[in-house]
Amino acid sequence: MYNVTLQPSHLSFTVSDEETILQAALRQEVALPYSCKTGKCDSCVAIVKSEGQSPSTIKTCTTIPSQDMILELELLTELNDVQVKTLPCRIDLLEYASEDVIVLTLRLPPNQRLPFISGQYIDLIIGDIRRSYSIASTAQADKIELHIRKVVQGKFSQYLFEQAKINDLLRLEGPFGTFFRRKASIVTKRPLIFLAGGTGFAPVQSMVQSILATQETTPIWIYWGNQTAEGFYSILPSEWAKGYEWINYHPVCSTPSSSWQGRTGLVHHAVLADFPSLSSMDVFACGSPAMIEAAKSDFIQAGLVPSSFYADAFLPSN
Ligand code: FES
Repeated sequence: MYNVTLQPSHLSFTVSDEETILQAALRQEVALPYSCKTGKCDSCVAIVKSEGQSPSTIKTCTTIPSQDMILELELLTELNDVQVKTLPCRIDLLEYASEDVIVLTLRLPPNQRLPFISGQYIDLIIGDIRRSYSIASTAQADKIELHIRKVVQGKFSQYLFEQAKINDLLRLEGPFGTFFRRKASIVTKRPLIFLAGGTGFAPVQSMVQSILATQETTPIWIYWGNQTAEGFYSILPSEWAKGYEWINYHPVCSTPSSSWQGRTGLVHHAVLADFPSLSSMDVFACGSPAMIEAAKSDFIQAGLVPSSFYADAFLPSN
């Protein structure tokens, strides 16, 4: 059993010989940043401090300590009021938003709520299949909306696109993840760039709708990337940009047909073309690991403060 101490909070918790730092933290309700829990994103990176040695970095989701450790890592007090629950739920609505994207609306049992922070995700469970999906609705809504892309030969896709029907009983567990605006950046009103690839628009929808429910008018730029025009399955970002002068929207096609009139190329290149310096921005990126990796490295080169890059990577499943 080892002690891990966080800085600057000075909070300590114990980690057994057989668990990762993140597993121990989640077990003891110590709120650390994370997303994939499998070492494939960088959300959980921490700086290791040890006397007489230069600092190094680790991922808390893959590190099993072999000695006491001091980590420089933010403690997310935003999660103090958020409790992970396992709840039954029923399919309330099942709508094709495009040929390969379904908007799934879930209904919780009467008197049950699922408090969460916009940007977080849940796991949907059917039998022995478990899949993670970002929540597209807000915590104020009485139903939970998910945007689900068809995965060829995916077990969950097969169920959802071929068999699922209204009132089917499922289970959900959550909320999970730390892809959300930090209290400090809400207070300082740092301008926001949302970078979404495909159904990575789902948490963006939740976050923007949460902002719209307040009086906040922080400038927002939404960049939504899809291969073709058919991928833009929601008209909400266009409507927000028309209705609020402080919201800007840029759809970007990477492999457009000849009829596409809008911007083309990689979605994060569109951001770089518009913002030679990103030093004053907060960036929230949700999409493929490749998109996130490329955006993070190029944005940091363009002056983005690394801690102002928040990412939620979609990991392949079958
Ligand atoms: S790499 Fe650790 S949470 Fe993704």
